[in-house]
Amino acid sequence: MTELHDFIDGLPKAELHVHIEGTLEPELMFALAKRNGIALPYASVEELRAAYSFNNLQEFLDLYYQGAQVLITQQDFYDLTLAYLKRAHTDQVLHTEIFFDPQTHTERGIAFQTVFEGITSALSNAERDMGITSELILCFLRHLSEEEAIETYEAALPYRDRIAGFGLDSSEKGHPPAKFERVFARVRAAGFRIVAHAGEEGPPEYVKDALDLLKVDRIDHGNRALEDNALVERLAREAMPLTVCPLSNLSLAVVKDLADHPLRRMLDAGLVATLNSDDPAYFGGYVNQNFRQTQSALNLTKDELALLARNSFTASFASEERKTELLGILDSYLAQA
Ligand code: HPA
Ligand code: ZN
Repeated sequence: MTELHDFIDGLPKAELHVHIEGTLEPELMFALAKRNGIALPYASVEELRAAYSFNNLQEFLDLYYQGAQVLITQQDFYDLTLAYLKRAHTDQVLHTEIFFDPQTHTERGIAFQTVFEGITSALSNAERDMGITSELILCFLRHLSEEEAIETYEAALPYRDRIAGFGLDSSEKGHPPAKFERVFARVRAAGFRIVAHAGEEGPPEYVKDALDLLKVDRIDHGNRALEDNALVERLAREAMPLTVCPLSNLSLAVVKDLADHPLRRMLDAGLVATLNSDDPAYFGGYVNQNFRQTQSALNLTKDELALLARNSFTASFASEERKTELLGILDSYLAQA
């Protein structure tokens, strides 16, 4: 291990782009399938892992939604979330903002409350036992209708005190931000934070529309924004955070090689980039693995790694008090590292 990889391992950081359903490791998927009497179309963990070879976002999503079908009880959602939090804790993630996709579950007849209470009880216990703080972001599935997003928004309102914001995920192409303008107007009027996946596979216009129509606080991915120089200048001027996921991009053929990853150009253009794992059980690595492989591929310096960690805290939805505390922990680490 190089010295910089040791530096990464100890670096205090936040994770701002992780789908809780995408942290379902094959071993847990098999255990939950057994517990719930569900037959999986794979004979073993090895056979399942071997199926994780994707040519695009949709091929991944098909397996991701299939995998999520083993999640039935509140305990299942608790076990899933706690396993991720323990893993994140070993990567020096001090604060995490977790996406969940309730429609993936309510469509199968699982109650919103079951999903929500399972996830949030793990979040509370992890804060108590490991000191890891968290926020929850509910994502609407963009391949479904805006009407269904509105129904989901209304189902979530009784739990609003424990939801920081709303996002947009799933199949991007053909499902532009404009499709969800009205639901996000309601989300915004109610004072929630807003994020959206944009420019992962979709064109730069989707990034622009996420800014102008949805009025996002952060862009998830944003890779293809780099095809439009005026947009890059705008993202820099507005200090709009991007939650970048290099190993996801590699797995889904958004980039051919990590050496070509746009993170280098994002940093050079002064964009507020952060590094994240997206769906670590499917893409071959948690957040530190994303840092390590990207560092090696792009020759990131210690200062650039520290900037990525700093951005993760400043771009987070943590309270100002918690942000100050997190930045203080980072500064102490940098002073001795
Ligand atoms: N992109 C879009 N939707 C998703 C993803 C992603 O990478 N992961 C889970 N849902
Ligand atoms: Zn994502």
